[in-house]
Amino acid sequence: MIDQETIQRIMDAARIEDVIGDFVSLKKRGANHIGCCPFHNEKTPSFYVSPSKGIFKCFGCGEAGDVVAFLKKHEHFTYPEALLYLAKKYNIEVREEEQTEEQRERQNERDALFHLSEFAQKYFADLLYNDEMGRAVGLSYFHSRGLSDEIIRRFGLGYCLDEWTNFTDHARRNGYSDAVLDKTGLTIFKEDTGKSYDRFRGRVMFPIYSISGRVLGFSGRILSSEKQAAKYVNSPDSDIYNKSRTLYGLFQARTAISKANKCYLVEGNIDVISMHQSGVENTVASCGTSLTVEQIRLIKRYTPNVTVLYDGDSAGIKAALRAVDLLFTEGMHVRVVLFPDGDDPDSYAQRHGSAALQDYLAHHEDNFVMFKTRVLLDSVGNDPIRKAELVKETVQTIALVPDLLERTEYIAQCASLLSVPEEALASELSKAINRNRQRAYEADSQPQPSPQPAEPGPTSDTSPTSPTVLPPPDPREAHLVKLLLNYANQPIDVTLPDDNGAPQHYTYPLYELIVGDLQADDLSFSHPLCQQVYSYFASALDRGEPADPTHFITADDEPLRQFAISLMVDTYRVSDTWRKKQIFVPKPEDNLKTDVSEALLSFKLKYLDDRIAANALELRQAQGDDRTLALLQEKKQLIDLRRQIGIALHRVIS
Ligand code: CTP
Ligand code: MN
Repeated sequence: MIDQETIQRIMDAARIEDVIGDFVSLKKRGANHIGCCPFHNEKTPSFYVSPSKGIFKCFGCGEAGDVVAFLKKHEHFTYPEALLYLAKKYNIEVREEEQTEEQRERQNERDALFHLSEFAQKYFADLLYNDEMGRAVGLSYFHSRGLSDEIIRRFGLGYCLDEWTNFTDHARRNGYSDAVLDKTGLTIFKEDTGKSYDRFRGRVMFPIYSISGRVLGFSGRILSSEKQAAKYVNSPDSDIYNKSRTLYGLFQARTAISKANKCYLVEGNIDVISMHQSGVENTVASCGTSLTVEQIRLIKRYTPNVTVLYDGDSAGIKAALRAVDLLFTEGMHVRVVLFPDGDDPDSYAQRHGSAALQDYLAHHEDNFVMFKTRVLLDSVGNDPIRKAELVKETVQTIALVPDLLERTEYIAQCASLLSVPEEALASELSKAINRNRQRAYEADSQPQPSPQPAEPGPTSDTSPTSPTVLPPPDPREAHLVKLLLNYANQPIDVTLPDDNGAPQHYTYPLYELIVGDLQADDLSFSHPLCQQVYSYFASALDRGEPADPTHFITADDEPLRQFAISLMVDTYRVSDTWRKKQIFVPKPEDNLKTDVSEALLSFKLKYLDDRIAANALELRQAQGDDRTLALLQEKKQLIDLRRQIGIALHRVIS
């Protein structure tokens, strides 16, 4: 257990925009930072981070919370893991209270895997420079591949000695258990013989990092070409490593990807490192698997633009074609660079140098449809049946592009390249799109594990946030609740008559003023969630306790939590035309007192409007003179009140 004081120091130090910024590319927008939500699939940003309130909120999928909630959700940390992560990030010394053995064990299980992986990375990297064999074999291999010491260090490369149990023994001596060695896959345990040995013996080591720079696993390359063993051996999936959700090089590449607004996707580890060394740092690879949707979504946090780099051999082209379909389906903008047959990005860079590589990339980037059409056209020749198949196949890929304009452009290009009338392609296209829709619809009828993007069509009619969807509150109710949540304890000066009618100055926290005013007239909110928020402040005042709006950020009631947070993140924005015309628009803080008066009066107007409408309905249905008379009297009172409030409101806002 981490003691309370340490928790407080961690929470004080953590800057939410800084922490989330390590995972999501954020742009400043007014008081907030916004970006594409990492928790669901989206093309336009609806993910807000409010530094002043220390919260995030996605208006697309509804995910919301504070910095710890973000880390728990995003990194799958437990609460203590999230705190320890923050403590490490902000260099805060952690004092831990006594734990029971059981608690320690549970909490330490994943920690132990992380620890051992980091320990192994350090050991392998150390051998590369400080061990005779490490230098003679490992380091000289990397040097022979043209890698500099600087880049070797940046990627944490290493060497595992060519002995059966050198690493395993070293780890055991340092207190790591066989169970953990087994789980990370660093040691292989043979059940039948009871023998164990180093998985990566005699290989150069490429550590695989998480986005935040923790070592998750390894990829080990064999040195000699004659051996029959596999060229690469990889860590198995574990509690901390999942290869289909990891991209090799992303930790080192993410800032460059975000800056360039573009990601290069290559095939191999060495290609990634070579590209980085050549100054093209926005490069990642897909960790020895064929590209997955999860990996694409990782890239999408930083950019929608992917350029796929593949060798010109037939395996390379096939891999490129497969990757591209998936990238299109995920709404990425895809381009392709094809290297001359027999070259990959690494060999090209080594042979021709960094400048030539950068130049090649700049001048051989192709739009994907052109690439596919050309590649396939070469193999089709003059065979009309195969040409028809090619047309179909190309159109099927184009049908995956979500953006209409982009699709239309592709169809036009494809038509001219293949000498087929555009109309023929367009009708083929609409058939393909309908087939995809149908398929998506069928898949959507099954229970869905994750929220779907909001796309027009048969799949978009359910909101991912909550099963029973409440209508949004009336803006006048929402406004008052927003003031409560955002400025509850702001002091407001008011002038009220004392017992003798003489004006007196008072200062109240904003929430006391609002609650006091509504209680005096015995008013309530019609929207249940507004009423729930209001009730919290009302009962705080009743009990004479201070009101703490952050209470909602961690509330267990999920709909309430999301609702409150959505009103706490200030999406108030001055429209661009106003900004261009330089019209001064006050922020709520600038004139809080006026805002409170106006909000209270508007709320009352709304309340009266509701009552007047109900009264009219009752009048229409009323039976008997007495009842009708009573309703008419009420109507008059309501309308009088409404007029008075209207006048007061006019005074406030003009
Ligand atoms: N790979 C793998 N297992 C193999 C072969 C390849 O996991 N048996 C993965 C590795 O991640 C490798 C990538 O596929 O980096 C591409 O393979 P390849 O082009 O053969 O490797 P390169 O990284 O280009 O290696 P090198 O240039 O050293 O031959
Ligand atoms: Mn290679």
